[in-house]
Amino acid sequence: MKELISYDAYEQLADHYDRFVDTKPANAYYERPGTLSLLPDVEGKTVLDAGCGAGWYTKWFIDHGAKYVTSVDFSPSMVELTKKRAGDKARVILADLNQPLEQIESQSKDVIVSPLTLHYLKDWETPMREFNRILKNRGRLIFSVHHPFMDYLVFGRENYFSTELLDDEWNTPDGKVKVQFYRRPLSEILKPLHLNGFVIEKLIEPMPTDDFRREQPDTYEKWTKRPQFLFIRAQKTTSIK
Ligand SMILES: C[S@@+](CC[C@H](N)C(=O)[O-])C[C@H]1O[C@@H](n2cnc3c(N)ncnc32)[C@H](O)[C@@H]1O
Repeated sequence: MKELISYDAYEQLADHYDRFVDTKPANAYYERPGTLSLLPDVEGKTVLDAGCGAGWYTKWFIDHGAKYVTSVDFSPSMVELTKKRAGDKARVILADLNQPLEQIESQSKDVIVSPLTLHYLKDWETPMREFNRILKNRGRLIFSVHHPFMDYLVFGRENYFSTELLDDEWNTPDGKVKVQFYRRPLSEILKPLHLNGFVIEKLIEPMPTDDFRREQPDTYEKWTKRPQFLFIRAQKTTSIK
């Protein structure tokens, strides 16, 4: 999987991600309140965590009574960290979301959650078709991605309507890490959902929370004026195969 974008980055970042994911304001006080606000009750439900990272959501589903949790990530280090958080209570699979998820049965999940992961994939046709196959009828897909306006602005792009690979560099206490991801216009976020049997129930652009303001007042001021992430809840209304 080494040729995949940001594979090396996440192998490098895994321990750092695990150390900070519980408390980092961007996750704890911005991304997670957004995603959690879109989740249905998971008690007794079967859940797929697609791009599980260090396993924060996997653990949350277990703690909130999900009946069966399956988690997927392409980074071996992230997979190990999720296994550590989840113990034997989740099935954690090393897999690339660009490819069909053959290990996961059709119509087996009530909920699929994919926080901050899909912008690492150029083509959303395969993952959306797979999410449709894996979900039960009327099942829900909830995901968050970089906001297309934010990347357009921050990276000074010329053409809002192109889908393009962007290069970034993130500062960590262990040094700089090169990260790449794709920016696409809003229409290219919505189209693969429509083409693959989903109807959008809710799209939100939330504000950072008061806890965020307390932790990082300057960033809070900026993020209340410029969206960072976009959050969508969609329902599978049609089986496409
Ligand atoms: C920003 S992290 C988010 C982790 C987790 N969802 C969370 O919110 O804490 C993005 C994750 O996506 C994973 N990822 C990126 N590209 C992937 C791919 N093609 N297939 C599977 N996982 C991928 C990375 O390894 C990383 O764990």
